[in-house]
This record gives sequence, C-alpha cells and structure tokens, in this order.
Amino acid sequence: MAPFGVPEIVSAVAAAGSVLDAGCGSARLTLALADAGAVDVVGIDTSRDRLTEGRARVSAHPMGARVKLMERDFDRVLPFPDGRFGAAVSRLALMIATDPIATLRELRRVTEAGGRIITALWAPVNDNPWFALPRSAAAAVVGPNRADYARAFGRLGGLEAATQVHRAAGLADVHAETLRETLDFQDAVALWTWIAGENGHVRRLDAALTVAKRAAVLDELDRLVAEHRQSDGALRLPRAMTLVTATV
Ligand SMILES: C[S@@+](CC[C@H](N)C(=O)[O-])C[C@H]1O[C@@H](n2cnc3c(N)ncnc32)[C@H](O)[C@@H]1O
Repeated sequence: MAPFGVPEIVSAVAAAGSVLDAGCGSARLTLALADAGAVDVVGIDTSRDRLTEGRARVSAHPMGARVKLMERDFDRVLPFPDGRFGAAVSRLALMIATDPIATLRELRRVTEAGGRIITALWAPVNDNPWFALPRSAAAAVVGPNRADYARAFGRLGGLEAATQVHRAAGLADVHAETLRETLDFQDAVALWTWIAGENGHVRRLDAALTVAKRAAVLDELDRLVAEHRQSDGALRLPRAMTLVTATV
C-alpha cells in the first residue's frame, strides 16, 4: 500500500515531467512520481543512510532510471538553476527545516513559473494519537527529557500555520487541507512494536529500556489508549496529515 499522502501528492503534480523531491528519505515518493510518468525526478536528502536505502530501492525498480538521488541540504541554496523543475514536492520534511520559509523560497526558485509546489506535514500532535500517546507513555516512565524526541512533529501542521508559511515564501494559490486515515492495532503492545519499527527515536529508546521499564511503558500506553479501544478490544487510532498545494 502507498504511504499515507503519497497518492495525493503524486496526483497533484501529475502533469510535471520533472520533479524535485526535497527530503526524499528512502525514495518511496520519489519512485512513485516516476511510476506516475515523471521522467526526470531528483530526490535530495542529507542522510547518507536514507540515501543508501533509497539508491538500493531505485536500482531495483523498473522506473529507477528516471530517478537521481543526491546528498544535498535544503537548508542551503540548492544546486539547481532557476526554473529547473516543472514541480517540487516535499513529504514530512519541511517541518525539520531550520528556516522553512527560506527552504520554500528555494523550492520556488528552482521551479518554473506556473509550476506546483506540494508539501505534506504532520497535522498537530493532538490529531495524531498514534504518535502522541506512545511518546507520552514513554515520558511517564523514563521522564520527559529522554522521551523528548521528534520535537518537529506537528510543527507548521495547523492549516493556518501551513498556509501562512507558504504565502510568506511568495507562493500563490495556497490551499491547505487535512488528510485523515486510521491505524488498527490488536493492542497497546502491537502499537508500541509497530512504532518502534517505524521510528528510529522510539527504536533506540525501546532498545535501552530494562524489562521492567518496558513493561511499565506498555502498561501506561494501555491506559492512555483506552478511548481508542473498540468493542472487540482492538485499537483504532486516527492520524492526520496536512497537504499544501501552491503555485509558483
Ligand atoms: C520523515 S523523513 C521523510 C522522508 C520522505 N520524504 C518520506 O516521505 O518518506 C524526513 C527526511 O528529511 C531529511 N532531511 C532532514 N533535514 C534535511 C535537510 N536539511 N536537507 C535535506 N533533507 C533533510 C531527513 O534525512 C529525512 O530523510
């Protein structure tokens, strides 16, 4: 199944032949853009580990020849001429930028006039209990400092904040909307195990827990997820992402 928000991002830039993916990670969106018809897709990221994983995925993919991954920093001036791309996208990365307006201005500069810029950000943390509750459970057991990971989660994710930052970068036709889905888990243990697999911060924290502390985290999480428990005992947790579309 496509990662959350990827189909919406891809369809928003479907007409573009060349696309920049800023903060591409392991290139899942980047390859989805190539699959959808873009023939010249460039992904940039600062993480060598993510890029290594991405390059393996690209080289094994039938449309991989359309994709180039580069180690580049979106906090700096991008190494591309003005109007180099037909569109630019960024999924779950803009909130990490040191100066998101400056990053968006760079995306605007390297995108041709009339091209689209599409970004996706996690909605505020309260709309994402699948993420917030495990972090709260960990904080209750190991203390807020040790559980103070992923502070950028939800940053700029409110509709108003997301709209403002794109407008401040000089983009036109800015529209922000909320995408929603639900995640199902058998119980709190399954939620914790899944998020530790998905998120490096949680994985490292989990690996450092003693057996007793881990049991305490799971007990606390079991208590915190109570309002999301279904009649059969399984958990259903909402998650929400803010999708912003704009034009250069
Ligand atoms: C949450 S991941 C999202 C990855 C990918 N866009 C996706 O949707 O799966 C955020 C990515 O932003 C990258 N990143 C963080 N700061 C960056 C920077 N200054 N320049 C480029 N990439 C950056 C991280 O290395 C990471 O791969």
